[in-house]
Amino acid sequence: MQKLNLKTSRLIEFSAVRQERGNLFFGETEKHIPFDIKRFYLITHTPKGIRRGGHAHHKTEQILLCVSGEVTIHLDSGKDKESIVLSDPGTGIYLGPMLWHEMSDFKSGTVLAVLASMHYDEKDYIRNYEDFIQRFQKKVRGK
Ligand code: TYD
Repeated sequence: MQKLNLKTSRLIEFSAVRQERGNLFFGETEKHIPFDIKRFYLITHTPKGIRRGGHAHHKTEQILLCVSGEVTIHLDSGKDKESIVLSDPGTGIYLGPMLWHEMSDFKSGTVLAVLASMHYDEKDYIRNYEDFIQRFQKKVRGK
C-alpha cells in the first residue's frame, strides 16, 4: 500500500467485506472517520486534463474516497509536497485543515466522494496559493 508522510494527512483503511457476491466497504465515525460528517459531495464526469481543487481550508477536515475509477491527489503542507494515486474504494485520504490539495488525471468514469466536517462556507477556503504559504509561514513563526 502507498504511504503518506505529511503530518496533516493520512491514509484511512475502511473495513471491507469481500465475498463472491461482491465487495462491501464501510466506515464509521471514531473508528475510521475522525469527525462528525456535516456534508458530502461527489465529483463526477471530470473531463480529461482537468485539475480540480487548488485550495486549503482554515478549519474543515475532509476524507477523499475514490468510489470508482482513478484520480491523483496532490498535497502540499506548505513545507512538504506529496502526490498519491487513489483508486481503491477501501482506502481514503484524510485531509486536515491548512493543507493545499489538488486533484488531477481523473480516469474516465471516476467518482470521487468527499466527506466533510463542516457545512459549505466560502470563508473557510484559502484559494490563493501565496496567501496559503504566507499563512503557513506565519503559523510556523508563531510556534
Ligand atoms: P469548488 O470548491 O471550486 O470545486 P473544486 O475545488 O473541487 O474544483 O466548488 C465548485 C462550486 O461548487 C463552487 O461554486 C462552490 C460550490 N460548492 C458548494 O456549493 N457546496 C459544496 O459543498 C462544494 C464542495 C462546492
